[in-house]
Amino acid sequence: INILTIEKDLNEKNILITAGPTIESIDPVRYLTNRSSGKMGYSIATEAVKRGANVTLISGKTNLDVPVGVKNFIQIESAKDMYDEVIKNLEDNDIIIKSAAVADYKPKSKSNKKIKKSDEDLVLELDRNHDILKEIGKIKEDKILVGFAAETNDLIENAKQKIKKKNLDFIVANDLTQEGAGFGVDTNIVKIIDKNGNIEEYPKMNKSDISNIILDKIKLLLEK
Ligand code: CTP
Ligand code: CA
Repeated sequence: INILTIEKDLNEKNILITAGPTIESIDPVRYLTNRSSGKMGYSIATEAVKRGANVTLISGKTNLDVPVGVKNFIQIESAKDMYDEVIKNLEDNDIIIKSAAVADYKPKSKSNKKIKKSDEDLVLELDRNHDILKEIGKIKEDKILVGFAAETNDLIENAKQKIKKKNLDFIVANDLTQEGAGFGVDTNIVKIIDKNGNIEEYPKMNKSDISNIILDKIKLLLEK
């Protein structure tokens, strides 16, 4: 599509998008992370900019370029960093899309020195991180809140529970066991489930097309 012909139907809408993995340090050398590439969130940011939105992108470390036109790009490492930045930027945004793969746990203590190996096994103790989405869900008022769910089993059931627990308007769920879905690739196979339990199933699509479907749904909610 020619970018000049795209309707600026999200003109002046302030959208906060989170993307990518978080990194939880163990010591100066090691960390815990996950397989998120950031592609889904960066794609939503790219499409939202094309449609005229003011995008704030809060991102973990990825290999991707910052999408052209993103007004406010914030790079973070840990889930705590992401939490702090989301809270800081919440007031200025009416739409929040949480595509980041946030670590649920972090090492209980972070060593300032490199941990040396011994002959014993090492047990790493982990603390819970904030559930960012759940906390926003409690204070969202009339903001539109969109979550993601990547599952390996019981997709619909798990996704529905997440909508409830986190007070979401809708959730974008994908089954990691399907080829062409999930981490690292340019395509995804998603089901979109809304808070009323309506389920829309989509075939394998480019992440850019899925991004526009997500933005279309948000636009419909804004019109209501
Ligand atoms: N999420 C978040 N903060 C966390 C964990 C998850 O904001 N600490 C958000 C993700 O960005 C995503 C949604 O919650 O939009 C669902 O993430 P997911 O990991 O699938 O769900 P969890 O609630 O963490 O449950 P579990 O990992 O046990 O499936
Ligand atoms: Ca999780």
